[in-house]
Amino acid sequence: MTKHQTNDQRRILVADDDEGISTLLHDLLTEEGYTVEVAHSGGEVFNRLQGNNFDLLLLDVRMPGSDGLAILEQLRKAGDDIPVIMITAHGTSSTAIRAMQIGAYDYLLKPFEVEEVVLLVQRVFEHQALASKVRDLEQRPFDPRERIIGSSPAMQQVYKTIGRVAASDATVLITGETGTGKELVAQTIHLNSSRRNGPLIKVNCAALPETLLESELFGHEKGAFTGAMAQRKGRFELAHNGTIFLDEVGELSPATQKKLLRVLQEREFERVGGTTTVKVNVRVLAATNIDLAEEVRKGNFREDLYYRLNVINIHMPPLRERHGDIPLLVEYFLDKYRYMAGSPATKISEEAMERLIAYDWPGNVRQLEHEIERAVILSQGKVITSEHLSLEPQTNPSMQIDLGSRLRDGTSLQSVLQEVEHWMLHEALRLSGGNTREAAERLGLSLEDLEERMRRYIKFGQPEPPLPTAA
Ligand SMILES: Nc1ncnc2c1ncn2[C@@H]1O[C@H](COP(=O)(O)OP(=O)(O)OP(=O)(O)O)[C@@H](O)[C@H]1O
Ligand SMILES: [Mg+2]
Repeated sequence: MTKHQTNDQRRILVADDDEGISTLLHDLLTEEGYTVEVAHSGGEVFNRLQGNNFDLLLLDVRMPGSDGLAILEQLRKAGDDIPVIMITAHGTSSTAIRAMQIGAYDYLLKPFEVEEVVLLVQRVFEHQALASKVRDLEQRPFDPRERIIGSSPAMQQVYKTIGRVAASDATVLITGETGTGKELVAQTIHLNSSRRNGPLIKVNCAALPETLLESELFGHEKGAFTGAMAQRKGRFELAHNGTIFLDEVGELSPATQKKLLRVLQEREFERVGGTTTVKVNVRVLAATNIDLAEEVRKGNFREDLYYRLNVINIHMPPLRERHGDIPLLVEYFLDKYRYMAGSPATKISEEAMERLIAYDWPGNVRQLEHEIERAVILSQGKVITSEHLSLEPQTNPSMQIDLGSRLRDGTSLQSVLQEVEHWMLHEALRLSGGNTREAAERLGLSLEDLEERMRRYIKFGQPEPPLPTAA
């Protein structure tokens, strides 16, 4: 059945040996616009169902030579999932319960009211339509952009990887600075995996001291330590048939790292203070904002565990490397934090937007989100201007040249100007995420002019200008 069927396209088979009842149902449902056929015995039911596309079967419990429940059972065994409404004169709960257990949609008690039949049949079809809509939704190709905002090339890459790995059980290590959306990615992966109906359990590995963390992750047996009054399940057990998200995984102690390695290899562990081995079916996602490879080199993080976690890596780019995503995010958060629910979207002035785009966002998307939330409140739903913004003084590089000392130590004007030029090119490119066309626009240069200047720096092997110092 497709979801847009009209009544006259819906075919109902009425199976009742009582001529009076089958005629009544036939006429009633035909009048409602359905296409109705009648069967008077079990054999006839099977004959008619074969090859005929019926959308609903009204089935009498008692017919000569055949028991309606047995017919239903046979249909289900054969894999036929046609909705069935049982008709019974015996209002015993056992028949009704049995019918529902075998897979009847509902049952009608004789004698029945005409409206009752019509409503019940309607409900079956409404229910069917809804179910097919849900199926459509589930089968719709997955699009992570519905939840994660951003269209920069770096984010496109993130979407592609999410799409590729979501359905698998692969362990994923999500890396990136604070506030770049690592947890959001973990949620998105879970929601688009076959485990979506199972739990998503989050553990912040940095939040607890070592001993507590171990019992938090793996649970403990009664009496495992002072205060362990009863056995307690850990997060790994709670995440059974679902996903566990290990946030700040770089903070794990050596002992916990070892235990985690075993879970990743064998999917089994013992609760703290216990000897019983617990087996779990869990998908592991992990995140960190530190450079784990570096921690491995320093000997702070087990190399074998690193490789087990880093089967797939998703790196979240910092916001300052994708300034182009800022307007999209701003619009998204403006909508999210409307001044009042239902009020029209708040507007933002061009000048305020420019400042947001040029800003460095050390706290990444989280900081931007808070900034917008605050500005919406301060502007009371009117136009947001830069007065409503509270951006910390830029900590991004600013150039300071002590011209006096340059003169004193004999640096030529030409060389100072080059230094300035180099810095401007560098900074414009950085702000534009490496996009030369955009950088040229910022500098008020033609694209050719910018490229020519960039080539000159490469050709002459300019010494790196002094690193810009913080303002
Ligand atoms: N691309 C995005 N689109 C929409 N919202 C985002 C995006 N990235 C992050 N956010 C939002 O920003 C906030 C911070 O994101 P999240 O908690 O996922 O960051 P994180 O990388 O886990 O940070 P931390 O390392 O500090 O834990 C959340 O409210 C999240 O919904
Ligand atoms: Mg996080």
